[in-house]
Amino acid sequence: MSKKTVLTGITTTGTPHIGNYLGAIKPAIEASENPAFNSFFFLADYHALIKCHEPERVARSTREIAATWLALGLDTDKATFYRQTDIPEITELTWLLTCQTSKGLMNRAHAYKAAVDANREAGNEDLDDGITMGLFNYPILMAADILMFNADIIPVGKDQIQHIEMARDIAGRFNHVYEPLFTLPEAQVDEETQLIPGLDGRKMSKSYDNTIPLFCSSDELRSLINKIKTDLREPGEPKDADNSTLFQLYSHFATASERAAMRRQYEEGIAWGEAKRELFEFLDAKLAAPRERYNALLNDLGYVEKILHEGAEKARAYATPFLQKVRIASGIRPLTYVPAQSTTDEGAKKEKKSAEELARIEEGRRRAILKQVQHLIDRVDNADDKSAEAGRVIEEKSSEVEQLKKKAKQKAQNELDILREELAAYL
Ligand code: TRP
Repeated sequence: MSKKTVLTGITTTGTPHIGNYLGAIKPAIEASENPAFNSFFFLADYHALIKCHEPERVARSTREIAATWLALGLDTDKATFYRQTDIPEITELTWLLTCQTSKGLMNRAHAYKAAVDANREAGNEDLDDGITMGLFNYPILMAADILMFNADIIPVGKDQIQHIEMARDIAGRFNHVYEPLFTLPEAQVDEETQLIPGLDGRKMSKSYDNTIPLFCSSDELRSLINKIKTDLREPGEPKDADNSTLFQLYSHFATASERAAMRRQYEEGIAWGEAKRELFEFLDAKLAAPRERYNALLNDLGYVEKILHEGAEKARAYATPFLQKVRIASGIRPLTYVPAQSTTDEGAKKEKKSAEELARIEEGRRRAILKQVQHLIDRVDNADDKSAEAGRVIEEKSSEVEQLKKKAKQKAQNELDILREELAAYL
């Protein structure tokens, strides 16, 4: 069985907090220990420029995120760990994909739509006011990140699901128009770790300003934990552990038996001050060793830089030859390039591919074609006389095939084949 590739990127605009650690970093490092996966993790610094125009902040965040992952024990022999901007192939692929991406698809991106809505609500006549092409094209850059390494599984937060869907659409379109080179990625969302509460009890997030930096000093950790919201129950009164931010944070770091013991203390009426002290001591002890490594790494940035360069080299060992294939498929070729006879070429390639891989490519191809003809299938589904409508659809597509030239003809023929299969019940 070929290994699945897991890939995720971290935008370099902030300081890693406990929510990032539990929701993304910890599960990613764990997955990278699993020999069933190939892992690619990267610092998405091109993405940072989309929403942050403070160079110092981008640079600082890049250092902090790199040091955090290493301090937490990421094994860079097992995972490929790199900085996006060290892989020029990604920006080149972005353009090749940009030329296959319909503008309409980008118009539907949540981040862009939210910015337009904000302008509308503010009564701004120019709905695109303040919106950069970076923001508009964001999903294409992200698709390039993913498709560059033919990643299968993309662990992300809920807000990113649409971007993975768009990467699938873009890959499907390229595969359909040129050659089936790209794997269609899938988002992986872990509901439980999406709900790490912050200081005010809402989801821990930089945008709510309620975060606990993962590697702040002990003193800062204590004072932040002291700010966590609690209810008004007095010492001695039983506490509702399940609705307590203190208890939830404790739980995410605790073993089952530690959790059960702490729950008992809540039921027995532990004072909030005491619960805070316990959480602080527990977290401080857990974080002490990686915090020390983190601070040491921030004092040895040459070493971190070297690790990132090695990661980039590993990543480019895949990206450079693969991009070459993508360029060739698109027609960007050395003048002397002679395309292999398409039939033997296909034959040789097919032999090399595993049955599983072929099935996946075929599935992707079908899906892409289905998308193109979905409106025709809908027409049949919505018709009163489905059989007559199905006949008409097939007839129209057949005559379209007749009238077309070679390449376009093959494309329409593929669509006709899929329509015949999909509508077989009515024909
Ligand atoms: N846009 C993602 C975020 O803000 C980060 C990211 C960039 C990413 N490229 C990616 C995540 C590719 C997964 C795959 O969270």
